[in-house]
Amino acid sequence: MARCYCRWRNVLICVCSPCICLALLFIYASVMLYWHMNTTASSSTTETNHFVASGILRNSSFAPLPKTFWELHLHGDAFWNHVQRVADWHFNPILRPNHNKGGSDKSTSYEFPLRRSFSEVIDQDSLRRNFDKLPQQMQAFVSHMHLRDYPTLIQPDGVCGAGAKEEKKPPLLLLAIKTTELDFKNRQAIRQTWGQVGWVVGQKRNSSRGEGGAYIRRVFLLGKESPEEMGVNLSELLQIESKRYGDILQWDFKDTFFNLTLKDVLFWSWFSRSCGQTRFVFKGDDDVFVNTPKMITYLQEQLKKPKARKNMKDFMVGDVIGAAIPNRVNNSKYFIPDSFYRGLYPAYAGGGGVVYSGQLTKRLHNVSKRVHLFPIDDVYVGMCMIRLNAHPIHHPAFLTFDFPEKKEELCSYHRVLLVHKRSPQQLVKLWADLNKTQTQCWDVPLRDEDEMKEKRRH
Ligand SMILES: *[C@@H]1O[C@H](CO)[C@@H](O)[C@H](O)[C@H]1NC(C)=O
Ligand SMILES: *[C@@H]1O[C@H](CO)[C@@H](O)[C@H](O)[C@H]1NC(C)=O
Ligand SMILES: *[C@@H]1O[C@H](CO)[C@@H](O)[C@H](O)[C@H]1NC(C)=O
Ligand SMILES: *[C@@H]1O[C@H](CO)[C@@H](O)[C@H](O)[C@H]1NC(C)=O
Ligand SMILES: *[C@@H]1O[C@H](CO)[C@@H](O)[C@H](O)[C@H]1NC(C)=O
Ligand SMILES: *[C@@H]1O[C@H](CO)[C@@H](O)[C@H](O)[C@H]1NC(C)=O
Repeated sequence: MARCYCRWRNVLICVCSPCICLALLFIYASVMLYWHMNTTASSSTTETNHFVASGILRNSSFAPLPKTFWELHLHGDAFWNHVQRVADWHFNPILRPNHNKGGSDKSTSYEFPLRRSFSEVIDQDSLRRNFDKLPQQMQAFVSHMHLRDYPTLIQPDGVCGAGAKEEKKPPLLLLAIKTTELDFKNRQAIRQTWGQVGWVVGQKRNSSRGEGGAYIRRVFLLGKESPEEMGVNLSELLQIESKRYGDILQWDFKDTFFNLTLKDVLFWSWFSRSCGQTRFVFKGDDDVFVNTPKMITYLQEQLKKPKARKNMKDFMVGDVIGAAIPNRVNNSKYFIPDSFYRGLYPAYAGGGGVVYSGQLTKRLHNVSKRVHLFPIDDVYVGMCMIRLNAHPIHHPAFLTFDFPEKKEELCSYHRVLLVHKRSPQQLVKLWADLNKTQTQCWDVPLRDEDEMKEKRRH
């Protein structure tokens, strides 16, 4: 009898004591949670009461601004925000878990939701009325923003741009330069200076250590001028130029500022098909000066860093502009009315010149099929980056707003990777100067490293 009682007591202890412990733990956790929520809630009302995604606001002085990129979802009545929200909903794997399993019809499964979200939104009365109020070039953009499969008019002669001869290694860098039919002078200056292709020698090093180099290729990205508007027909000249240099990639859309984004998406598509092995892409304007030797050395250093393989997935470097406000000055080239887009821009690298990895290019190509075109091309790249959860790296040697200091010194151009903006004549002169001062300036560091030292001294 006593033994039986004893056994029951053991069972009780075994079962009940964990229950009591769990109950106590639960009460403790609840109290802590309640207390924590109370304190954070009361403190956050005094500061910011919204979520700020890391990487968007690099500089804390932006923080007091009431908006973040994510907040755009609240601005449903702005045209772009609205049409993108419908597309985002469609591609959301949580809301629509079965959508991505389709498989067979890959291209249509992407394009269809973008087109459908567009026609759904454009048919709404309130947005129709909005549309009529938009400035003319914005109307031209909106009425074509669901189209992006324009035919290719001229292709480069190599598989992946000009300069493919006798390569013993995959090319390090493809120079993809935005230009227009009219800018022949700029193209020619680039071909003769920083845009030379084939085997290109990197930064001159101390001669006893020898010097590295890499294979470079080049392609110019063009739309079409309308012969009616220009009065002359330049197509034939461009054909001749393409036969001579083999570096022209032209599509059949009107070459306007708001159509520049098409050059990104169509270039990514072409790159993904033709340039599998290329390690990096430089994408920039035809009025910039690029220190190609330094660029080669800089990129080779990136490849030697530990975890380079992993980092290349997201690698983009340039002059990063964080949390910019859309331009609301109605006579500006960059004017975006708030009936079209509301909220901040995501962090983006200035379109004057930016470098990203070939791997990232292919990922951008994929994700761009889920993002509606935006009239400002570099902002559009930022919007694609944020959907890849990738963040561009800022480098002070990309001077897309020219030198901040007035006086240029002897070695100034040896310390930069890119400067905007320079005329064709200046490019030729700068290139000659760069070669002349090679021996005096061979060991100056890029702007970045110098400024780090400055900071440490203070
Ligand atoms: C943020 O940028 C402003 C100017 O735009 C500058 O004065 C300030 O020092 C920067 N703050 C930080 C923390 O970098
Ligand atoms: C060049 O390199 C050699 C050895 O690597 C070194 O002794 C010499 O000082 C270097 N020259 C300069 C100018 O740094
Ligand atoms: C422009 O010239 C090209 C080649 O000479 C020709 O094929 C094309 O039809 C011309 N376009 C116009 C609008 O005249
Ligand atoms: C973009 O190109 C298309 C095709 O040529 C043209 O119809 C449209 O008007 C252009 N968009 C803008 C904003 O110029
Ligand atoms: C541009 O803005 C100014 C004032 O900000 C206004 O007076 C003008 O009517 C606007 N122009 C257009 C075309 O909207
Ligand atoms: C792009 O998407 C295709 C099809 O969805 C996939 O097979 C491929 O791996 C993706 N490429 C990259 C680089 O993400």
